Amino acid sequence: MIRNRKHTLAAALVATMTFAGVGMAVSSTDTIKDRQDAMETVGGAMQKLGAIAKGEAPFDAAVVKENAATMEEHLRKASTLFPEGSDTGDVETWAKAEIWTDHADFVMKLKTAEAAAEAMKSVTEESAFRPALGKLGNSCKECHQTYRRPKQR
Ligand code: HEC
Repeated sequence: MIRNRKHTLAAALVATMTFAGVGMAVSSTDTIKDRQDAMETVGGAMQKLGAIAKGEAPFDAAVVKENAATMEEHLRKASTLFPEGSDTGDVETWAKAEIWTDHADFVMKLKTAEAAAEAMKSVTEESAFRPALGKLGNSCKECHQTYRRPKQR
């Protein structure tokens, strides 16, 4: 199966519309997979920034901007991938039930992360990079601590 970017985006759009239209027509299994994919992408971009922070890669404003944009985009996408009823599916999810009982707080934490990623896009000086990364990293932790079961690997 061909899964290029456009294809995935279009599928997500259709999925969202179908979900809104006919309730449970979209399986929560697909939704869970999509949000885990989105989070993986966010995590991958975070690792690139982490490598710069650790001195494993040079500071490069273009690389920072590109990865920050990837994070912003996928965090925004993730905000559509936690609909009610997607707490279980045929694949394991680490999402906690509190996501749906404290939904406003969950959404706010997602927005905070998105804003931190957006702020990172405009970092052009190495001196501003670390504080921005600290904020961004905290925004992930703040949500995961409350709303994600720890993953045993
Ligand atoms: C508002 C809440 C929230 C924020 C903010 C958030 N996450 Fe997540 N993240 C989750 C939840 C919930 C899951 C579990 C999803 C599931 O298993 O269905 C998750 C899962 C993940 C995963 C595992 C994906 C997988 O394949 O199972 C990674 C990696 C990840 N997040 C990275 C990040 C990074 C990096 C950030 C910060 C830039 C971040 N997340 C911000 C809620 C959040």
